[in-house]
Amino acid sequence: MLNTILVTGGAGYIGSHTTLCLLEKGYEVVVIDNLANASKESLKRVEKLTGKKLTFFEVDLLHETDIHKVLSCHPNIRQVIHFAGLKAVGESTDDPLRYYHNNLTGTLHLLRALESTNIRQMVFSSSATVYGYPTTIPVNEHAPIQPTNPYGHTKAMIEQIILDTIAAYNWGVVILRYFNPVGAHASGEIGEDPAYPNNLLPYITQVAAGVREKVTIFGDDYPTPDGSGVRDYIHVVDLAHAHIAALGALDKQPTGAQLYNVGTGKGYSVKEVLEATQAVVDRPIPVEVGPRRAGDVAELTSDPSRAHAALGWNAKHDLKEMVRSAWHWQSKNPHGYRKQ
Ligand code: NAD
Ligand code: UD1
Repeated sequence: MLNTILVTGGAGYIGSHTTLCLLEKGYEVVVIDNLANASKESLKRVEKLTGKKLTFFEVDLLHETDIHKVLSCHPNIRQVIHFAGLKAVGESTDDPLRYYHNNLTGTLHLLRALESTNIRQMVFSSSATVYGYPTTIPVNEHAPIQPTNPYGHTKAMIEQIILDTIAAYNWGVVILRYFNPVGAHASGEIGEDPAYPNNLLPYITQVAAGVREKVTIFGDDYPTPDGSGVRDYIHVVDLAHAHIAALGALDKQPTGAQLYNVGTGKGYSVKEVLEATQAVVDRPIPVEVGPRRAGDVAELTSDPSRAHAALGWNAKHDLKEMVRSAWHWQSKNPHGYRKQ
């Protein structure tokens, strides 16, 4: 019988897609989320789509005793996927103490609660943002860790805390460094629901839907083929599957650290993403060129070969499918999970 998986932050964007995938694979799932950046509606839809039940606790990782209560109610939990955290780069620069408190203290509480109940296997959501301004493209896992903002520092610090935890208590952890997750489940029932879209594709689809006026290309004078920034976009469903593969890797190698980039390895420019969206939405998307955004790099793409070799995982969706699914979600849910 498959394990019961604890999923922190499971009501969020990547967490809800991964929870769906876990249920489809036959895992029992216990989700905890404080709903700071999510809605319970995502999980209701996951249950409807899969025809399976999950267990949800509205719990804040900052309240350690509540984590203990969940674990004592579910003694079958053997592995954890830890998504919960705050993730907006700009917000983290404006309010770093909130970010350090939430992401670091929350994780410390989780790790302590898990250690005290002998749960020692985890998959952790890290980010390509830990690489900062990379000197070599594509980036492999040996590249230096040099974050450039408080959010990135929380990820780098948590990675270190995890390595120390593995060494001291004999844990097994898979750290996944995601590149740029985009897209939505093919049903259009779950997707990314940002209060304000800071990232490119949700912004473009909101402009296409008429929610926002125009897309600003943040600089077209970068040393890239068309002058706009290049990123490694990864379909959220492919990313969800990488988590399933990571759980399998923990079964095979129950202790020690495993670290993987999760991207496609292929870069697309802002202009290419705009063209791909234009082709899918079949309506004009007003665009202007603006100045570069502070903190942006010209190009960031992954070398995902380690994940291919060790996890047997490969991204299956191309840019067109990423854009089509993002647009399907946006069109079906113009107000996200809100009724209007
Ligand atoms: P998200 O905001 O949709 O999901 C995070 C979830 O964590 C939310 O549901 C939120 O309510 C919950 N949460 C936050 N603080 C909590 C706390 N103290 N206690 C309990 N729940 C809490 O974000 P996402 O895009 O699904 O990202 C998931 C993880 O992946 C995050 O750790 C994020 O930093 C990381 N990540 C995301 C991206 C991306 O582009 N989306 C890229 C790299 C890494
Ligand atoms: C951003 C974060 C990164 C985080 C990632 C995923 C910054 C500096 N980096 O990465 O830490 O891990 O999101 O959540 O915020 N762009 C436009 N116009 C827009 C929006 C974006 O031209 O309105 C461009 C950007 O300059 C970039 C590309 O589109 O070249 C992708 O931007 P975005 O989706 O914000 O992701 P990143 O900047 O790669």
